[in-house]
Amino acid sequence: DDPKDLKPRPPVVTVMGHVDHGKTSLLDAIRHTGVAEGEAGGITQAIGASQVKINGRVITFIDTPGHETFTAMRARGAKVTDIVILIVAADDGVMPQTIESINHAKAANVPIIVAVNKIDKPGADPTRVRQELTEYGIIPEEWGGENIFCDISAKKHLGIDNLLESVLLEADVLELKANPDTFASGFVLEAKLDRGRGSVATVLVNRGTLHVGDAVVAGTSYGHVRAMLNPKGQNVKEARPSDPVEILGLASVPMAGDEFRVFTDDRDARELAESRALKARIEEQNKVKHVTLENLFATMEDQEVKELNLIIKADVQGSIEALVDSLNKMDQSEVRINVIHSAVGAITETDVILADASNAIIIGFGVRPEAKARAAAERDGVEIRTYSVIYKAIEDIDAARIGMLK
Ligand code: GTP
Ligand code: NA
Ligand code: MG
Repeated sequence: DDPKDLKPRPPVVTVMGHVDHGKTSLLDAIRHTGVAEGEAGGITQAIGASQVKINGRVITFIDTPGHETFTAMRARGAKVTDIVILIVAADDGVMPQTIESINHAKAANVPIIVAVNKIDKPGADPTRVRQELTEYGIIPEEWGGENIFCDISAKKHLGIDNLLESVLLEADVLELKANPDTFASGFVLEAKLDRGRGSVATVLVNRGTLHVGDAVVAGTSYGHVRAMLNPKGQNVKEARPSDPVEILGLASVPMAGDEFRVFTDDRDARELAESRALKARIEEQNKVKHVTLENLFATMEDQEVKELNLIIKADVQGSIEALVDSLNKMDQSEVRINVIHSAVGAITETDVILADASNAIIIGFGVRPEAKARAAAERDGVEIRTYSVIYKAIEDIDAARIGMLK
């Protein structure tokens, strides 16, 4: 971006810390502050992020993402957070997740503001918290270090304004800017499948302005933005840098940490999403080793009773019965044979999906896989074996059972 196109944008702040040290309470207190100021800014919490307005300036808060989310984003190089508020309970001190949070923030190279919480409690010892944190390289400004410390009580609403002012101060130092006048890009904070609304993704815009109707690729998902909701749950037409919005209209559900980008050309967008999806499937397929008659023993080496799941499809019911009959007569002390599904008819994509989910092999008698089924089997690594004579199938299964199939 040309420097002249860059405009100031709100800071994006993540609250991290040990379990029960007060992350949610702090965000509640902050939202309350927003309300007290007469800003409807953060009353409702419709999505996993919120915005408050302090002294006329907006701050975006990402609501306590699990560490997994944070790590996933970091792994994908997504610098969604500008500032981390590290919350430490003054009566509890530095705990395992406090250290984890510090490591995450440091790895992401994000400044840390420490909120020493629960100072209202009788056992509170804010000085001890400061001392403990020096071990991890978090040193208060008043001791010559680089970290701002704020003593607060989320419960009693003490020190919250001071903390927010510190956030804005830190944001000033960072000189956060982005070009709003270009096609939007950013990151997926969270995504889910909603029964009524389909794929719902909460995204944070990094750059550009996102509009309803835009063609978007997020990870392996593609679609047009059908509607957008702001943190208050209101429909909006656009989202600018540092704005969190919920978007509807993606054809599938992206992953937290996925990058999203708007495309001018519809076909480019769809092709990118499809090629990424294909790549992901191939990677997945290489990872999951499906059972086949050849590798039956190898894949089940460590299991005491090995199980062979079969799906049987045949042209006539009589063939199914004959095969099941023969299978039942086999010695099943070493390998238990489960016919999880049998039916008359061609091998369909549904059979393959079932086989994939239950690690089964598909046996076909006088029937062949439909084209879609063959493609799905190739994609998912599901073995389909077709036979025209029953004894051949029995022979193969029996050989696999005793681990002798070549
Ligand atoms: P998780 O999301 O479970 O990790 O917890 P959290 O960090 O969000 O903590 P949460 O806000 O749920 O607070 C945990 C408990 O501490 C709750 O019972 C709060 O009421 C209490 N608490 C939070 N802040 C304060 C505080 O400033 N003073 C006191 N006395 N209690 C607090
Ligand atoms: Na809690
Ligand atoms: Mg919480």
